[in-house]
Amino acid sequence: MKSPMLRWLCLLSLSLPLLFWFGHVITRDGPAPVLHGPGLRGYMRISPGGMEQFLDMHCNQCALVSSSGQMLRAGIGEEIDKIDCVIRMNNAPTLGYESDVGSRTSVRVVSHTSVPLLVKNERYYFQQSADTTYVFWGPDRNMRQDGKGRIFNTLVKIANKYPNVRIYTVTREKIQYCDGVFQNETGKNRMKTGAFLSTGFFTMILAIDMCDRIHVYGMINDNHCSRANHSVVPYHYYEQNRINECRMYKVHEHTQRGGHRFITEKAIYAKWATRHEIEFKHPTWSL
Ligand SMILES: *[C@@H]1O[C@H](CO)[C@@H](O)[C@H](O)[C@H]1NC(C)=O
Ligand SMILES: *[C@@H]1O[C@H](CO)[C@@H](O)[C@H](O)[C@H]1NC(C)=O
Repeated sequence: MKSPMLRWLCLLSLSLPLLFWFGHVITRDGPAPVLHGPGLRGYMRISPGGMEQFLDMHCNQCALVSSSGQMLRAGIGEEIDKIDCVIRMNNAPTLGYESDVGSRTSVRVVSHTSVPLLVKNERYYFQQSADTTYVFWGPDRNMRQDGKGRIFNTLVKIANKYPNVRIYTVTREKIQYCDGVFQNETGKNRMKTGAFLSTGFFTMILAIDMCDRIHVYGMINDNHCSRANHSVVPYHYYEQNRINECRMYKVHEHTQRGGHRFITEKAIYAKWATRHEIEFKHPTWSL
């Protein structure tokens, strides 16, 4: 028969590792984030309780509405509003342009540089537009989460002030992935060639992640501006009397530092349209 001493030692040797294990678990700072939830890994929610949710959104049909001046007098607002999910970019308005661009916004993809424009009108974007999900993208210097990311900090403040708003950021890994996509498609390194990806590029990637079928409205193809008879429209439909679209595209295409390669990006989309269900309307692309 075992002595009481031996039994006690036995119990101790069993419970000590258990004690340490529990100690380890409960001394972590708060609960561990759930990193295996459903949704798209490249887009993380900023919520008052911390970041632990991926964008869990799927649409059969998406309308991706460009901000181009091509949308002026397009008269396709009704057609756009009939589509399950309507995706817009930055601060592109619907008010006053409904008959051309529609009135619903399911998702708004916003560049770090456009965040101040949304904040200026924050009641409209974050209180009245309750059905809209926001996806913000930006470089690490603005979006880092260690307290030094100026734009990220602003978004955290908004998430705290409007806790019901669905605010997501494109993760650093996803941004790097998009750079990789650009490099693979063009053979050029985005950073070394002094280019920034455009909001349109991130929006196309998101639409491919989220939608079974994409209807793109108001985007011109990569040849458009080199045709002698090309249409002359404003760069943005909501900024009339400003620089025209083709001039803007040409300046950016050849800028040494900090340009958006809008024309190169359009050539990339044409390739994607052969592999995904993407249709370009107004103007129509023949692929
Ligand atoms: C780029 O191409 C390489 C080689 O084919 C591949 O391994 C990599 O996954 C691609 N990257 C992206 C982001 O598509
Ligand atoms: C512009 O020129 C192209 C041929 O280069 C032609 O196919 C097209 O119909 C013309 N567009 C207009 C609006 O005249």
